[in-house]
Amino acid sequence: MDLTKLNFKHVYLKEVDSTNRYAIELLSKTNPNDGFCVFSDFQTEGRGQYGRSWESESGMNLLMSFVYKTQNKLSVQNPFVLNKLSSMAVWNVLGRYVDSERVKIKWPNDLLIDGKKIAGILIQNIFRGQEILFTVVGIGLNVNQVHFLNSNSVSSLKLELNKEIDRTEVLQDIHKELTRYMLPDSATINQIDSEYNSKLFRLNQYSKLRKSNDEIIEGIIRSVDKHGMLNILSGNKVLAFDFTSARIIV
Ligand code: BTN
Repeated sequence: MDLTKLNFKHVYLKEVDSTNRYAIELLSKTNPNDGFCVFSDFQTEGRGQYGRSWESESGMNLLMSFVYKTQNKLSVQNPFVLNKLSSMAVWNVLGRYVDSERVKIKWPNDLLIDGKKIAGILIQNIFRGQEILFTVVGIGLNVNQVHFLNSNSVSSLKLELNKEIDRTEVLQDIHKELTRYMLPDSATINQIDSEYNSKLFRLNQYSKLRKSNDEIIEGIIRSVDKHGMLNILSGNKVLAFDFTSARIIV
């Protein structure tokens, strides 16, 4: 990677436990600019959603955490807007590499190409009382890795494009797009719900969800509301699920 090409403030670490954890620790000691980025070639304890881990071959992919001051009033009432904004930023970048019709957002914020996961986002907020002071957006994006344990459900840019991709360029793009979305103007905010919903994986399709008590729910995915609840039409009822209590399985 040619780090001299990066036009934003960053810390590069050859190895770290987790870039999100590192960024959160940094926030307790310093006051970084919006868009400040911590990225690494390898994480020993990469974290995912639902307490999952995030595995990535050393030096192949992008493991990055970006910090934003969250003055946005909307996020206080609806912290899920941060998931939508960051998902849309990554969706836009992926759409420059492959046909954007193939890129979908799996609720709450996985990025898929033709149904295979290529990126995951872990958002961690730093609160003062009720207020979100900072948001750490952690993104794992598979760039040049070609061997995966679960190769049926995971992909990378190299697998999709059959060529090596310059990680510095992708990082630069992600930073630019994420900063545009995370410091949104009112037009972006007004459109975010419909924009995000239109990119949903399995939108208007019959799907299955697994609840945290292992119960399976079947129905048609209709939308994700302002609060991040997934609305499913099941029989003649619309059911709403919080992302901590249910996951899409197909
Ligand atoms: C998920 O799909 O569950 C979210 C995965 C998020 C992984 C990224 S990699 C960079 C950042 N640091 C972490 O420990 N996790 C996020």
